[in-house]
Amino acid sequence: MSTDLVQLDRADKLFHTRHFFSVDPKTGKRHFYQKRPIHAVREMEFGVRAGEIFGLLGPNGAGKTTTVKMICGLVRPSGGHVYVDGLHVEKKRLQVLRRVGVVLEGTRTCIWPLTPRENLAYFGNLKDVRGKVLRQRTDYLLDFIGLSEKRDVQVRQLSQGQKQKLAICIALIADPPVIVLDEPTTGLDVQSSRAIKDKVVEMTREQGKCAVVTTHDMNVAQELCDRIGIVKDGELITCEPTEKLLDIFSEQVYELRLDRHPDTRLLEAVPGVVSTELEDADDGPTCLVKLDPDPELRSQAIYGTVQTLQQQQLLLRSIQQRQQNLESVFLQLTNGHSRPGATE
Ligand SMILES: Nc1ncnc2c1ncn2[C@@H]1O[C@H](COP(=O)(O)OP(=O)(O)O)[C@@H](O)[C@H]1O
Ligand SMILES: [Mg+2]
Repeated sequence: MSTDLVQLDRADKLFHTRHFFSVDPKTGKRHFYQKRPIHAVREMEFGVRAGEIFGLLGPNGAGKTTTVKMICGLVRPSGGHVYVDGLHVEKKRLQVLRRVGVVLEGTRTCIWPLTPRENLAYFGNLKDVRGKVLRQRTDYLLDFIGLSEKRDVQVRQLSQGQKQKLAICIALIADPPVIVLDEPTTGLDVQSSRAIKDKVVEMTREQGKCAVVTTHDMNVAQELCDRIGIVKDGELITCEPTEKLLDIFSEQVYELRLDRHPDTRLLEAVPGVVSTELEDADDGPTCLVKLDPDPELRSQAIYGTVQTLQQQQLLLRSIQQRQQNLESVFLQLTNGHSRPGATE
């Protein structure tokens, strides 16, 4: 058996949707119209270890929420299996529920007329957390997430970010080893979003929990996740450590900040230099030099470039490799992966 806390084994989900179609103008009859099935998740396979933050990244409708709902037992897979802590989600439902804390997007997890403390008492009791343990954990969680000051304020008076923080505390009240966060920072301001990301990292690292996070935001995925699975039309099109994902697609572009324009024809004549481009700024131009991916040729090209610039007696202010971001990686990966009519 694997040691993954969460494991999906070719989990599949087919939704059958039925719609009232239209009223027939001649007969006045309503047609109950069976729509074609929607394949929301296709043979999804991945595992998440303790202490790891796994991100599911994809556009709206890609199947992220459906996938995480299968992990918490809220959606029954139409094929394949899902395991939490080695337990089959469908067969050991109750045991699985005790091991997973979940915050779903856009659902009202907390009870608004109650205070954060009362909310945690209520949900704690539902999950068999009572007495001293409940009080201690409530204090700890509210303090951990930064809500101590608001502990006795009605939830309706809290900001959206504070409500989201409380929802995370509720998910953590029974101290589950797995936490599932569906779009945890959507709709939050920069500070709340930052605080939540920091807390998720702290919690996974320090307490050895495993976190599954869904997001459509590349920055969230890039900043937060150790490993990223990119989902499109229900399919996991790639699943790699974040660094590796960025590396694979990192173009070898170097930024050279100079005091004036170089002769780019001379630079392009250097072996290993693929192309050059100039960007102007107030303090002088930046020359973008794209190099050959081959390590040896690239090394030659860097030496050659610097030499050429020196020969032109240019002042070289700085040299750095341009960082690739996830957005460009994502676009490169999802282009050509479309499956028309797969989702609505
Ligand atoms: N309960 C449902 N019944 C029918 N179709 C659904 C249901 N839930 C989701 N879908 C469909 O499954 C697809 C994936 O949805 P979802 O998992 O919510 O995507 P995401 O969270 O990535 O935005 C969408 O096409 C959506 O319309
Ligand atoms: Mg969703």
